[in-house]
Amino acid sequence: MSRLVCVSNRITLPRRTAAPGGLAVGVLAAMRDNGGLWFGWSGELSADTTAPTAITERDGVRYATIDLTQMQYDRYYKGFCNTSLWPLFHYLSDRFRYDHEWHDGYLAVNRLFAARLAPLLEPGDRIWVHDYHLIPLARELRALGVTQPIGFFLHIPFPHIEVLRLLPVAAEIIRDLTHYDLVGFQTEADERSFRAGLARVYAGDAPRVRTGAFPIGIDVDAVIAEAGAAMRTDPVKRMIGGLLGRRLMIGVDRLDYSKGLVERFSAYQRFLERNAELRRKLIYLQIAPLSRDDIQAYSQIRQALEQATGRTNGRFADTDWTPIRYLNKNFPHGTLMGFMRAAQVGIVTPLRDGMNLVAKEFVAAQDPADPGALILSSLAGAAHELDGAVIVNPYDLRGVAQAVAAAFAMPLAERQQRHAAMLAALRRRDLHAWYRGFLGAIDAARP
Ligand code: F6P
Repeated sequence: MSRLVCVSNRITLPRRTAAPGGLAVGVLAAMRDNGGLWFGWSGELSADTTAPTAITERDGVRYATIDLTQMQYDRYYKGFCNTSLWPLFHYLSDRFRYDHEWHDGYLAVNRLFAARLAPLLEPGDRIWVHDYHLIPLARELRALGVTQPIGFFLHIPFPHIEVLRLLPVAAEIIRDLTHYDLVGFQTEADERSFRAGLARVYAGDAPRVRTGAFPIGIDVDAVIAEAGAAMRTDPVKRMIGGLLGRRLMIGVDRLDYSKGLVERFSAYQRFLERNAELRRKLIYLQIAPLSRDDIQAYSQIRQALEQATGRTNGRFADTDWTPIRYLNKNFPHGTLMGFMRAAQVGIVTPLRDGMNLVAKEFVAAQDPADPGALILSSLAGAAHELDGAVIVNPYDLRGVAQAVAAAFAMPLAERQQRHAAMLAALRRRDLHAWYRGFLGAIDAARP
């Protein structure tokens, strides 16, 4: 069997706490089950650009990492990846900024990745490149004479061409994706957006490029087992004890403006205003680990959330009740699954999201005999599959506030029925199906 080589901006090194997000979970599962090589940035900055690629090996997986310089990090990661591509791909064009030096840095780091990866490749390898940081990588690898099949998967949304066109190098982004043997997206809507972009850039003369929708899933049985086991652990028991019998709504998101937290907090405040009788009966726990916090837009959103929490708690809290518990710390995955199982309502309201695995995890973590209800943004990829959720538009504060009331009031039989339908959907397209589907399609692209 050919060796699997995964490439991503950041990799999850053994013995480090898992990086948050679907990419880390998905690649780790594919690598653990298939073995192979995972290449990427170490997460460290270093002035020495000539340091050799660091190789470690664990459980059949080889990890190869390189450091970046401060300038590469600033231009490539903070600049082009997370201040140009990230907001634009999430349709948040007011947050989009562009600087040609960032783009130069992006190209330079992709060239560096290719130069460092190429010597590690073997003839029978299958190369799988992940996410928006590395769109030009196939072109760079081909220029170095790499002939092995190369697939690309985008974990975030792909924007419609009319949005992508804000980017001065939009056509290059589209052209670079044609160098892959297969380009995978989370949803068919993303795939259609890319195809519309291709048609625009090549004006009817587009090269043949294989595309597909491969919605990422979760390891359903692993989450069920983790959530069940976590209920007997100290952190989960303490959290439940702290509720003093009150009902719980939970949100778990990286602290990112695309997650719609400011809007969610406003909607919750509105819910409290309109539902005085429920006020002291429930608690909203929001876990939001800090992310990319050296980027200005992220420190601003952090401040806005601190103010919003202070406002709501200042206005509604009592000596023995706080309406919002807002935490910036991260928890082990199992503990989070236990928190979710203990909640009556899960709230996931991104302004746009490629998939959102928290929504899927919330469903799998529930007790099927008495499951919680899920409130889910129509603008998350997961909404295409989880139609048993209470679907909301995250900008519609009145709608979200009403959904919170409806979710807490939902009768048991309805919760059970919605949960069973969603769990079946999760099992149809789980994490294993995701990577097997993608790898099978790479093989089919290059028989
Ligand atoms: O898919 C979204 C993504 O950007 C992944 O590429 C990444 O692993 C995750 O979010 C976390 O982001 P970062 O590596 O920038 O902290």
